[in-house]
Amino acid sequence: MQNLFINIRKAEEKDIPVIMQIERLCFDMNRWKKENIIYEMKENPVANLWVIELSIDNEEGYRVVGFSDYWHTFDSATICQIAVHPYLQRKQLGSALMDEIYNDCYAKKVKNITLEVRVSNEKAINFYKKHGFKIETIKPRYYDNGEDAYYMILKVT
Ligand SMILES: CC(C)(COP(=O)(O)OP(=O)(O)OC[C@H]1O[C@@H](n2cnc3c(N)ncnc32)[C@H](O)[C@@H]1OP(=O)(O)O)[C@@H](O)C(=O)NCCC(=O)NCCS
Repeated sequence: MQNLFINIRKAEEKDIPVIMQIERLCFDMNRWKKENIIYEMKENPVANLWVIELSIDNEEGYRVVGFSDYWHTFDSATICQIAVHPYLQRKQLGSALMDEIYNDCYAKKVKNITLEVRVSNEKAINFYKKHGFKIETIKPRYYDNGEDAYYMILKVT
């Protein structure tokens, strides 16, 4: 019987191509450019850009299958991005990333985690609700294409 290993770690420069690939597969609009990822990785002091990687039996090393980015400022945090490769969605990998974000925020004494999500993105809205986020308000025409966003909040401490 083979064992599946999951690891979450800080993103490194070598991860940029796979982060861009997963992003391209997951989002039609407002995609990150390489410079945006490098900025989040190396320059933005409040950013926490992580990848989740899988390995079968630890034999062939790990393969990155998802990523997340959240900003931590004083006692609040904002999830900027979270995505899992479409072939591997609904296998609790996004939840593993979200649990890691939550635990990190708890350790940093963050009060609230906030985020914006497209009102049409039902699977992400369900995902966030499953993790305890509540819709606080609607931000009209928040996105470039005029779509509204739900502003969601999770109380941590
Ligand atoms: C949102 C996303 C990160 C969730 O990651 P995931 O690994 O697929 O989610 P999980 O398997 O951890 O799902 C946890 C819960 O979220 C909800 N959920 C996840 N996918 C869902 C779907 N397609 N439909 C309905 N509910 C869903 C369910 O409640 C699920 O629990 P369950 O499987 O026990 O019913 C993933 O769907 C994704 O990458 N989407 C594209 C990128 C995106 O839209 N990101 C959010 C931008 S704001």
